[in-house]
Amino acid sequence: MADLLARLADRSAKVVVVGQGYVGLPVAMRAVAVGYRVVGFDLSPERIKSLEAGQSYVGDVSDEELRAALARGYRPTTDAGELVDFDVAVISVPTPLADGLPDLTFIEAAGATLAAHLRAGACVILESTTYPGTTEELLAPILEAGSGLQRGDYALGYSPERIDPGNPQFGFVNTPKVTSGINAASLAAVDGFFATLVDRTVPVGSTAEAELTKLLENTFRHVNIALVNEVAMFARELGVDVWRAIDAAATKPFGYMRFTPGPGVGGHCLPIDPSYLAWRVKQHLGHTFRFVELANDVNEHMPDYVHRRVTELLNRERKSVNGSRVLLLGLAYKRATSDWRESPSVVVAERLAASGALIELCDPYIADVNARQVPHPLVPFEPAVIAAADLVITLVDHPEFDPATIAANARLVFDAKGVLRGHTFVGEAL
Ligand SMILES: NC(=O)c1ccc[n+]([C@@H]2O[C@H](COP(=O)([O-])OP(=O)(O)OC[C@H]3O[C@@H](n4cnc5c(N)ncnc54)[C@H](O)[C@@H]3O)[C@@H](O)[C@H]2O)c1
Repeated sequence: MADLLARLADRSAKVVVVGQGYVGLPVAMRAVAVGYRVVGFDLSPERIKSLEAGQSYVGDVSDEELRAALARGYRPTTDAGELVDFDVAVISVPTPLADGLPDLTFIEAAGATLAAHLRAGACVILESTTYPGTTEELLAPILEAGSGLQRGDYALGYSPERIDPGNPQFGFVNTPKVTSGINAASLAAVDGFFATLVDRTVPVGSTAEAELTKLLENTFRHVNIALVNEVAMFARELGVDVWRAIDAAATKPFGYMRFTPGPGVGGHCLPIDPSYLAWRVKQHLGHTFRFVELANDVNEHMPDYVHRRVTELLNRERKSVNGSRVLLLGLAYKRATSDWRESPSVVVAERLAASGALIELCDPYIADVNARQVPHPLVPFEPAVIAAADLVITLVDHPEFDPATIAANARLVFDAKGVLRGHTFVGEAL
């Protein structure tokens, strides 16, 4: 492994990033920026064409950054032949659920592709979120079967991604990166590589520890969001303002972390990752991971809860959902991002449309909904558009959604995200 460490030090190493999505593209950009030769490999011809044209589809990577990387030699490609002679390969392919079960076919395919080019002394790093055991039990045998190499001939590790799309404070470089390897030499290679990309690495004792770290972080978030969502529903029944209670609790300088209620959870992580851990626990130990099941149950029902509250609110105004013009503010799964995979806003729109509401969607981060066949018009965030709706529902707290404009123009609001706190408006909060 000494050769590899030397090539990392002088940046002569060839780095390939398999999967150029929300996770893989920022890694590739950073690797180019610090001086490596970088190939961005992806199976999607559309994505590669867009990258070649200098057009980024990832919010955290600007077109300027992408074009600068292309000028420095970054090679986006669908051609697996370009992986030849790689020194470091990072795998950042999807890990979805299929019928509620982990679907590792993307990791298997990426491993098989890399194995054909894996040489002694090279390093493979898995970044995709997955259950503890994947790197050693699933990926290593695929790499070894395809390359003819054995443990010790090459380096293999796991390093979870902690990207927080749209976060202005913490990006790829200043977020500590957990690193691991299947043996000491692998850890040295994986940690050595990421130490050239980020401010601080956090080496841990095994790949399973690193895999569990990621799932622990996301399960923690999932469970705590479910907790405040359930508290919010009970607080309303008890006639208590949950938002003020949350603000007050957050003044405690130790032992409390602020989470806020909302219409549910979305994105590629929270609705999926905890189920990877629950599956592993069930498969290996036979136990049900009760916290995950409960959190899934609470968070998955939040769109239905929004639907019920909205129905009651319109009813009080002597209106029905059926025939009402309803403006949904925010389609993304979270603030300041264009990612609307698994977004609860889509479920809210479906539920209300099924009850006869005439839905309009407003999201300044999303230009096109046709690709995913969401049959509602996209409208701009403008006073006249807000005023024309019978009901406005805030589903995402995008910074562009000026609360004063909403409060001054909306005839009726259901504030599912606490956007209008501190403003006088007609309507209710979650
Ligand atoms: N998006 C996030 O915020 C985030 C954060 C942390 C971790 N993760 C995890 O990172 C992983 C990747 O997520 P993402 O959001 O980047 O997904 P994504 O869908 O945006 O990107 C994945 C890319 O991999 C490509 N791909 C699939 N199979 C391939 C193969 N065999 N060879 C080459 N390319 C292939 C796809 O075409 C796609 O472009 C997942 O495991 C996810 O859970 C995501």
